[in-house]
Amino acid sequence: LDYMRRELVDIQGVPLFWSMVEAWSQVESFESRPDDLLISTYPKSGTTWVSEIVDLIYNNGDTEKCKRDAIYNRVPFMEFIVPGISNGVEDLKRMQSPRLVKTHLPVQLLPSSFWKNKCKMIYVARNAKDVVVSYYYFYKMAKIHPDPGTWEEFLDKFMTGKVAFGSWYDHVKGWWEKRKDYRILYLFYEDMKEDPKREIQKLLKFLEKDLPEETVNKIIYHSSFDVMKQNPSANYTTVPDFDMDHSVSPFMRKGISGDWKNKFTVAQYERFEEDYEKKMRGSTLKFRSEI
Ligand code: PPS
Repeated sequence: LDYMRRELVDIQGVPLFWSMVEAWSQVESFESRPDDLLISTYPKSGTTWVSEIVDLIYNNGDTEKCKRDAIYNRVPFMEFIVPGISNGVEDLKRMQSPRLVKTHLPVQLLPSSFWKNKCKMIYVARNAKDVVVSYYYFYKMAKIHPDPGTWEEFLDKFMTGKVAFGSWYDHVKGWWEKRKDYRILYLFYEDMKEDPKREIQKLLKFLEKDLPEETVNKIIYHSSFDVMKQNPSANYTTVPDFDMDHSVSPFMRKGISGDWKNKFTVAQYERFEEDYEKKMRGSTLKFRSEI
């Protein structure tokens, strides 16, 4: 199919899939609704995990209801428009409220209607080194992406922002700044790994929802990596092989913090850290140093 492995195209300085650029006016004029909940992330940062948790919260922990459809239909990926494959904008138009909306857009490209309607937003950030490793395997298995090249080459592309959805550094900082003026709950993947209960409590408070402790425990269990990996409604195995080749790498790959230690050489680590320090200098956004 002709969308496979095509080069990315720039929109306002951000590399995106060519078909999204062609359909950009549809994205730009997307009409949010005041009770939409936006789930925003840089790719590979915990989107699917937090989406499953929020859908479970919305359905009071009813795990059977949350198996009604695949995660990408329960939480449509707004700007993902690929002819014959997906149109997030159209899917969302047909959806009843309250809607959950997935986006990977950097803050400056988010359709203005979300700001105008002051929609609630959840942002999940994950440490850069684990993101680039996860993204490398995802580039290989999801054929909408251009060929990632070698790991070394991909690492360079990531550091210079020449990957789908652009610079990780700008993305996490951009959304971090916006949280001062809008209803944004800014979460970290590493915090969710460390203490899912605490992070789910933050979500409940943000969503102004109260659930009994046993329901919260059920949500923690159902959204754990091992359970989601076995759940066809959450693990992307329902995506056809010609779009995602799970034999190359499963979507639910490892689900841990610190996997970068298995991939970075010492030289790559040193180069990455030096560049990271420069790019993140001056920001109050801090990731946990032990990871
Ligand atoms: S996407 O394609 O951008 O929407 O991907 P995203 O869901 O953001 O990120 C995929 C990575 O998240 C891991 N994952 C989880 N980790 C812990 N717990 C749970 N429940 C969970 N679900 C998904 C998934 O395995 C990818 O990370 P890696 O490091 O590649 O394993």
